[in-house]
Amino acid sequence: MNAKFENEKVLMGHFFQVMAETIGLKQENRKKIEWGVFPYGYQGEIACRILQQRFGIVPRYIIDNKWSKFNPDIISLETLTKVDNENMVIFIASDRKDIYDEIRNAIRSHVVKGTVVDLFPMVNEDNDRKVEALRLLANHFTSIGLQGSIAEAGVREGAFAQYMNKYFPSKKLYLFDTFEGFHNEQVKGNMIEEDKIFAVNMEYRGYHHELLGEMLPMPNPENIVIKKGFFPDTARDVEDTFCYVHLDMDIYQSTVDGLRFFWTKMVEQGVIMIDDYHNDHCPGVKKAVDEFCAANGVGVCFLPEYRGTAVLIKNR
Ligand SMILES: C[S@@+](CC[C@H](N)C(=O)[O-])C[C@H]1O[C@@H](n2cnc3c(N)ncnc32)[C@H](O)[C@@H]1O
Repeated sequence: MNAKFENEKVLMGHFFQVMAETIGLKQENRKKIEWGVFPYGYQGEIACRILQQRFGIVPRYIIDNKWSKFNPDIISLETLTKVDNENMVIFIASDRKDIYDEIRNAIRSHVVKGTVVDLFPMVNEDNDRKVEALRLLANHFTSIGLQGSIAEAGVREGAFAQYMNKYFPSKKLYLFDTFEGFHNEQVKGNMIEEDKIFAVNMEYRGYHHELLGEMLPMPNPENIVIKKGFFPDTARDVEDTFCYVHLDMDIYQSTVDGLRFFWTKMVEQGVIMIDDYHNDHCPGVKKAVDEFCAANGVGVCFLPEYRGTAVLIKNR
């Protein structure tokens, strides 16, 4: 089974459940209903496919301002405003938790009548499996007194780092990032062919540093060491050892560098989690992890969450 399929299966599980529920509720006047999906990114595509294949519903409205310029079957939010139909149901197919409120507000303010349904359950502390895995791991490491600092490489605004800082309240937390997105010339210059999908998607999804928000508040800021700039250059002076590292840098070379740098510094039983292993928008990550594991005889397992985070455990 390839990674794309695996990843889709998890998304499909989510989508299927919410769709089945929504369609079930609307069963009585199903014939009248006109369905829509917004926006039309990777998940929007999957959502349309499930609607058609599993429920026999051809969405009447596919809404996406970017793609409406290129594809006449896709309409813009502005066009949607002209639809006056109280039986319209629009699914929001996005998991961008950083801009989800904007996405939701955009669609809600353009749907005159009708219903908007959050297709992707919002990822939060209670339903994010990776955060839950982190919490359990932190409890375990605390109970066995495992030494070592913690680090995240690829921090963005600190959405995951917040939880690292919360669940490891007394560990020193190193945060490595350009903190200006992928516009750093060295990061850009390092992209390989596999990262091109990501680069295109990055533009599409608006990974522009202008859109970067402020760092989120950290519960234990006194333990945080910010390493701003190009990784691994910013790690040269770091002599510490680590019990937990989260790599979330989306592209091949950054992930290779992260694995090389941290692996030798991990304490025994220490864990590295690598985000996006099963995210086919970031194939460079999988390539980096596979090569590293093969070259170093390291086993890998995965978290059952939608991006299929890879987990490596250090054993001497
Ligand atoms: C997906 S974001 C991180 C998301 C974050 N973990 C969260 O919880 O929201 C990826 C980040 O990796 C950073 N990045 C990628 N390669 C890098 C490198 N070589 N040096 C510094 N930062 C890098 C980018 O600047 C970007 O902010």
